[in-house]
Amino acid sequence: MTTYIGTATSRADGYAKVTGAAKYAGEFDATALAHASVVASTIAKGRIARIDANEALSVRGVISVLTHQNRPRMASDDSAYKDDVAPKGSPFRPLYDDQIWFSGQPVALVVAEEAEIARFAASLVRVDYNQQAHVTHLYRQRETAFALESPTDPSQNPFAPPRPRGAAEPALAAAEMRHSGEYYVPIQHHNPMELYASTVIFESGGKLKIYDKTQGVQNVQRYVCSVLGMESDDVRVLSPYVGGAFGSGLRPQYEVVLAALAARALKRSVRLVLTRRQMYGLGYRPAMIQQIELGANASGTLDAITHEAITVTSQYEDFHRQETGWSGLLYKCANARYAHKLARLDLPTSCDMRAPSAATAVYALECAMDELAVALKLDPIELRLRCYSDRDQHSDRPYSSKSLRDCYRQGAEAFGWDQRNSEPRSMRDGAELVGWGMATGIWEALQVPITVRIVLTANGHAEVSCATSDIGTGTYTIMAQVAADMLGLPIENITIQLGDSTLPQSPVEGGSWIAASVSNGIATTSKAVREELLRLAQQMPNSPLAHATPAEVMLADGKLVSKRDGSRAVSIAEAMQHGGVERINQERSTTFEHAGPHAHNTHSAIFAEVKVDEQIGVIRVTRVVSAVAAGRILNTKTASSQIMGGVVWGIGMALHEETLIDHKFGRIMNANIAEYHVPVNADVQDVKVIFVDEPDDAINPLGIKGLGEIGIVGVASAIANAVYHATGKRVRDLPITVDKLQR
Ligand code: MOS
Repeated sequence: MTTYIGTATSRADGYAKVTGAAKYAGEFDATALAHASVVASTIAKGRIARIDANEALSVRGVISVLTHQNRPRMASDDSAYKDDVAPKGSPFRPLYDDQIWFSGQPVALVVAEEAEIARFAASLVRVDYNQQAHVTHLYRQRETAFALESPTDPSQNPFAPPRPRGAAEPALAAAEMRHSGEYYVPIQHHNPMELYASTVIFESGGKLKIYDKTQGVQNVQRYVCSVLGMESDDVRVLSPYVGGAFGSGLRPQYEVVLAALAARALKRSVRLVLTRRQMYGLGYRPAMIQQIELGANASGTLDAITHEAITVTSQYEDFHRQETGWSGLLYKCANARYAHKLARLDLPTSCDMRAPSAATAVYALECAMDELAVALKLDPIELRLRCYSDRDQHSDRPYSSKSLRDCYRQGAEAFGWDQRNSEPRSMRDGAELVGWGMATGIWEALQVPITVRIVLTANGHAEVSCATSDIGTGTYTIMAQVAADMLGLPIENITIQLGDSTLPQSPVEGGSWIAASVSNGIATTSKAVREELLRLAQQMPNSPLAHATPAEVMLADGKLVSKRDGSRAVSIAEAMQHGGVERINQERSTTFEHAGPHAHNTHSAIFAEVKVDEQIGVIRVTRVVSAVAAGRILNTKTASSQIMGGVVWGIGMALHEETLIDHKFGRIMNANIAEYHVPVNADVQDVKVIFVDEPDDAINPLGIKGLGEIGIVGVASAIANAVYHATGKRVRDLPITVDKLQR
């Protein structure tokens, strides 16, 4: 029964969000709540020589100033700071000692009766440093970057470059057509609307109830216990609503440690909300210098791909993803070689940001493919069709589904691609040059072990719970849709509980894996509920389902019904009343096969139109069509919103976003959303999202792939390719700003 799955169901949390009833981490109250404010380091590297908090402490209403010298005990072993998704290295420990790793690092925490007092007093804390020379410039660390080796056992480091195949260098040398280029993506910072915040409620016996902005309540719960040496039962982490996170909340951020430390020091509830500037002291999308070389046959098939990348991390952790592997995965090509180096800067550790690795790597690949198409005098879609691969090129497995051809076809049709004159600078609209560009997108279709509990009551209401988050993607809504269909109940009768560490197990919400995982998890637990109902129904005298097996019945319209004979039915209420059962409570875990016979990815084709003022060089993205193949779409409304959001971010990546560092001070100059440019309404015009049909009965029982991240992948390259088509000018370093078009 699919009454709700696949429909444009409105957000279950929509009303609460637009009316302000939905509470975020920094909005929960407690009696005698104290407020904290961070004092941040003004140097990028060195040691704290002295902290003078006297002036701050003399302000009326200031309760305490915590520093590394007077904070409560926290774990000294840095392995205690390893969260579920920590990279290799030694995690940052806030207020641990006198060491400064980056500008903006928290060095003291002022706690006061009011937030304004805390913030003012924080400006009065004097910190003296013994400064050391720092490096924040990627190009200056280019020579010292170290190589990540392809491991013989990929489980050792799943994010190391894949092993090469064939012999790329000889194939390149022999290729009839070659293209090589260096592409650059700068550091980009997370700017979710909701600021990072923790409200730590100090309960009797010293238990902590923590409202934190995070993508994983259980990850934060384990982390806090480990860092503060607390028992699991004494720390509960909640995050009912998240105002955007996109990867910045996969790891616990320092606000939760500081707020919990303060609550323990003062034995009272404490709230800490970071400022927008302080948010720039958390993670960021690593800058990436990449060189791509493509060797092709004159007929437009690929012979060789090499992809070399340098990305950025901190001095203390090795954050990276498998950036270079995407290029060898997407297209059919017998020879491929990858190299990835990591450069250390005096900055915080870089982190995941929507479609981490693919957003940056596929940008370069898809610009390079466009350049190759120009050199081969081939339509860019035609080149991609000639290189089309029905198999995963890394593992040489067939795909469980791959409807990328349909994305190209339907996207091109919706865009009107056949009207394109391939000659650069050939299309105009008054004083503006018009450019049309396209690109392919690819992302993973991952699934993670998850546990779901369903409590069904005799009045036909069900509560479905799981510790996953809803980071704004629509998880509440799709969970309710799936549960309503699986239990045969109206969606109004479903209540969703999530974002609470005491609920059944869930990994962080990330990687686009929760929709597929939790939906199939609900299906698994629903089956257990159905089986229990059938047992009850069969105990009834003259039960119409006396001989039915579990596979022969389904739940629909509040009844257990025989699939063979719809007249054979028992209502949920009857079965439960007869059995003397007030509630059915089932909890099941679901796991997924990963090394099966099939490979799984999501794909997209993006088409972009730009209009460029010929004299000034101002670029406008006037139209984007994104055609996506992502398995079964659970909710066309929230899914379209996800893709549209990805497209908007892709516009920002192409034209606006760039973290600017004053390398003399090692400090970010544009740490605010006035000067860190993101697309605004006027930058976003006509965006059309298409979902192509992609049935997939092999990936999981419900055929779901997930689509939180695919929306951004390829967008920046489609726009960059459109800018080339409009102007005849190739800009290979993002963002494409007016000055770069003039040089
Ligand atoms: Mo995503 S970048 O795994 O939140």
